[in-house]
Amino acid sequence: MNTDAMPAILGGTPVRSQPFPDRRTIGKEETEAVLRVLESDCLSAFIGGAGEYFNGGREVRAFEQQWAEREGFKHAISVNSWTSGLIIACGSVGIQPGDEVIVPPYTMSASATAPMFYGGIPVFADVDPTTFCLDPDSVASCITERTKAIMVVHLFGRCAPMDEILALARQHDIKVIEDAAQAPGVYDGDRAVGAIGDVGGFSLNYHKHIHTGEGGMLVTNDDAIAEKCRLIRNHGENVHDEKEVDDPVNIIGGNYRLTELQAAIGIEQLKRLDDILDTRNELAHHFASRLNRVPGLSATIPQGRRSHAYYIFPFLYDADQVGLSRDQFVQAVHAELPQATDFESTPLEQGYVRPLYLSRIYQDKCGFGPQGQPWAYQPDVDYCYEKGICPVTEDLHERKMLLSPLIREPLSTSDIDDLADAIDRVASHAPEIRDALENSAKPASM
Ligand SMILES: Cc1ncc(COP(=O)(O)O)c(C=O)c1O
Repeated sequence: MNTDAMPAILGGTPVRSQPFPDRRTIGKEETEAVLRVLESDCLSAFIGGAGEYFNGGREVRAFEQQWAEREGFKHAISVNSWTSGLIIACGSVGIQPGDEVIVPPYTMSASATAPMFYGGIPVFADVDPTTFCLDPDSVASCITERTKAIMVVHLFGRCAPMDEILALARQHDIKVIEDAAQAPGVYDGDRAVGAIGDVGGFSLNYHKHIHTGEGGMLVTNDDAIAEKCRLIRNHGENVHDEKEVDDPVNIIGGNYRLTELQAAIGIEQLKRLDDILDTRNELAHHFASRLNRVPGLSATIPQGRRSHAYYIFPFLYDADQVGLSRDQFVQAVHAELPQATDFESTPLEQGYVRPLYLSRIYQDKCGFGPQGQPWAYQPDVDYCYEKGICPVTEDLHERKMLLSPLIREPLSTSDIDDLADAIDRVASHAPEIRDALENSAKPASM
């Protein structure tokens, strides 16, 4: 690539004008599976009472069994969304009003709100600047006698430091829930994420690696937790009389059930997961090797078997070294590439979500109820959600993190070369770009 060529933002010819290929998720196999279920006339076999169909019908059970066998989980329990799965997971480990749950602030909102459905109070620990997952030292500093669980999020598909977190949990008799929404098929050594802790699972919403439109899959190796999850999924109160429930805490349930149609789609999607992960790993390694040659940009690739799913590709940006603000850099790179039509065709995003504790419910300390529950369950504790409590997360979000949603199928390494070429060209013309953007931002003189 000719990095000397004039950058597009200064009037040069863009690196690429042809749109990046769209993500296609559904093939003829899913279509045939849906037709098979439609023809059976049974779109969901669940019955919210004791009996053969308390745990769903043929497709639901097959989907669960295939997922469990694939990764060696003792139990896989499908649900109608991973938000439902997180709520069920919190119920299954016995979260009660006033219990504290340690969560990262850099995640989708449901990781932190799920404990509140049982009156649990989120306490935010900071993330590690390299893995972007919970920092075990920060977790340790948040543990109190009220801590009931740690919600580990395998953010962007990268496995969090499970050994350190499990050691803390064992030492303090705390449960570990894994939010592996973005990390299906990811391993920490020979352990599949999701059930390394007590319970966890995956999202199957449309934007995830594989999907059922909406949906999720809980996984655990613990029989009692699995039983509780199945009760909460499907009106556990209705089977309480018939079943010997060892621990009757939190068994009232909802309707968190996946349909037969979705499960049939899920079975076909699961067959695609290995290819998707292989593609994303190949593209990610290629992109990282190009990025890491540019002063001021750095991407860390974890080593080991399938340790990253690359839901989105994260890397670090140093504005001083590059010589452009993060915003200027993104503007200039985007000028080199076709206009994005949605999130998945966007070359670069600045940061992920605003640190969760800065949102209104934490600032006002009011999740539900007139007294400001769940915080009202601990009236003597002054929970702090001020700006500054998780400085690493804030620094990543406000200054250092860039994300690329383009590290996905069906892109090829030559598509990724276009993205990397655009980055190279902008980085090598930083001073001219900065001058031009700063001059155009100045008001015209009178
Ligand atoms: C980390 C994380 N947790 C939880 C969720 C919620 O999953 P769902 O959309 O399936 O309810 C998501 C979905 O975006 C997620 O990315």
